[in-house]
Amino acid sequence: MQKQEPLLDVSNLRTWLGSRKAPIRAVDGVSFSVAHRTTVALVGESGCGKSVTALSLTGLIPRPPVCEMSGTIRFDGRTVSGLDARGLASIRGRHIAYVFQEPGSALNPVFRVGAQIEESVRLSGRDVGSVREEVVRLMQLVGLPDPERRRLSYPHELSGGMQQRVMIAMALASEPRLLVADEPTTALDVTIQAQIMELLRMLQDQLGMSMLLITHNLGLVADTAHRVYVMYAGQIVESGPTESVLAHPLHPYTRGLMDAVPRLDTIGRMLGIPGQLPRADERPTGCLFAPRCPRADDRCRERLPDLESRGDDRAVRCIHPLE
Ligand SMILES: Nc1ncnc2c1ncn2[C@@H]1O[C@H](COP(=O)(O)OP(=O)(O)OP(=O)(O)O)[C@@H](O)[C@H]1O
Ligand SMILES: [Mg+2]
Repeated sequence: MQKQEPLLDVSNLRTWLGSRKAPIRAVDGVSFSVAHRTTVALVGESGCGKSVTALSLTGLIPRPPVCEMSGTIRFDGRTVSGLDARGLASIRGRHIAYVFQEPGSALNPVFRVGAQIEESVRLSGRDVGSVREEVVRLMQLVGLPDPERRRLSYPHELSGGMQQRVMIAMALASEPRLLVADEPTTALDVTIQAQIMELLRMLQDQLGMSMLLITHNLGLVADTAHRVYVMYAGQIVESGPTESVLAHPLHPYTRGLMDAVPRLDTIGRMLGIPGQLPRADERPTGCLFAPRCPRADDRCRERLPDLESRGDDRAVRCIHPLE
């Protein structure tokens, strides 16, 4: 049997920003894929290029700031990189929908939430019969209690978690094949965070869609993502099935991210990774993580390692991987 092509396949994506003379290499040769009906996580600390990757999928960053963009993006069996603005617009929102971090600022404060969900249903162009009934159905789907009454609320009358549920309902209005959730719970407190993650997990499974989950918190992906890609300074440094990566991280950076996850037993002692990302317009030669890496030696500083397959569906960009 022929192997099914993944829903999303990104190959060697490069999105550079700013000036051509000194570009910010926000995304620098990233490849990943999202299989049908699965959740894939893109993980890394702030500024490593996660959002630029997500936005690049549907051409959401204009030129400027984009100064250079290349690579191949295939979605649902066709090549979408290189499509014109209209082609991309037809995919965005309809087949690929986004949920972002700050529901409060993404919702329009002067319209009732029901009207905003209704607008998304209309924009989707789906034939739903009664739009109002569809709004109620979507609100129920995302766990908004008492939708008949709630749809008349203004955003400020809802809690952050409820606002994020409204945003998710809007994203689902088009019945997307791929939901891109970019730090969907970062603005929420921890208990609400867990509820929204549970909702996303349930929706992905129930609706049979795929999800690209973007987060700096490796702890969030354990129960949600089937596969994880760890990003550092615009590049993938490690990838593999989530369970296997979390059980045996190969890249010292992945290990550092795991130690950075605050746990109850280490409260007040959040182990991070000392140092910071290299400036995106000033790359060191050699491994980009070397300046911060406890295992780095002269060889690491000489040449940028390739992302190498390690069997068991895993890959790592490191010449001294952990065992
Ligand atoms: N509009 C822009 N103009 C110029 N530089 C940008 C722009 N957007 C992002 N960048 C730069 O691109 C790099 C990657 O940014 P990106 O927003 O993708 O990071 P991120 O991984 O999503 O971080 P965070 O976790 O903080 O959301 C950073 O160096 C950032 O400063
Ligand atoms: Mg981001």
